[in-house]
Amino acid sequence: MGKSSQKIVILTGAGISAESGLGTFRDAGGLWAQHRIEDVATPEGFARNPDLVHGFYNARRVQAAGADPNPAHQALARLQREHPGEVVIVTQNVDGLHEAGGAQRVLHLHGTLAGALCAACSHRWAAPMEMQTGQPCPACAAPAGRPDVVWFGEMPYFMEEIYAHLAGADLFAAIGTSGEVYPAAAFVDEAHLAGAHTVELNLEPSATASRFSERRFGPASETVPAWVAELLRQS
Ligand code: OAD
Repeated sequence: MGKSSQKIVILTGAGISAESGLGTFRDAGGLWAQHRIEDVATPEGFARNPDLVHGFYNARRVQAAGADPNPAHQALARLQREHPGEVVIVTQNVDGLHEAGGAQRVLHLHGTLAGALCAACSHRWAAPMEMQTGQPCPACAAPAGRPDVVWFGEMPYFMEEIYAHLAGADLFAAIGTSGEVYPAAAFVDEAHLAGAHTVELNLEPSATASRFSERRFGPASETVPAWVAELLRQS
């Protein structure tokens, strides 16, 4: 198959937004050094202390709204625009920086800060900048509004669609993700099984680095535009 028609599937994680000023989870001083996952990223934590959980996501929503996409987000949007084949972006990030950088199709497998979800009827609506405990659902009026983010113990979104894309991938890249959280950390294996070339772009080797056929290390704002330029030269 010519390189021009190859299907590219890209998985991104918090590292791609680090240079936009948004904290990662597992780096020194990251979000999980400051907060307990059980408290702010599980349904049980939300049931125990919804004020704390809303406070955590309200702060992240404000931070994300004030952040700008960086050259890595913009390069992926350029790849989507200019590569003749299909380019699918799957992100674990709940910020909207891929879209702000011009990306067209982004599958948010861990949900998004921009969304609110009714825990009673599953209705979704645009989240206000500050969500509050007991936020009423506009559809069923239950005081059950929560951030539309996927917590530990919950099923990530778009899984069927993502696995279908991986099964058809010619090239798979993981960018700025530690490879610590499943199922996303296993996407490289699915892509490999499908015969795809696999590449990791990360600041340093991730937990899954040895499972990739190619590795490129450095800040995403540098490695991603360089990789995209190379791909576009070949296509
Ligand atoms: P992590 O914080 O686990 O990993 C971020 C990765 O980005 C690390 O491997 C860093 O080395 C790398 N990194 C940091 N700065 C970078 C830069 N400037 N350029 C390139 N890479 C850089 O974040 P994720 O892998 O996204 O889920 O975490 C996965 C999931 O764990 C999140 O979606 C979230 C979290 O718990 C839920 O909350 C459900």
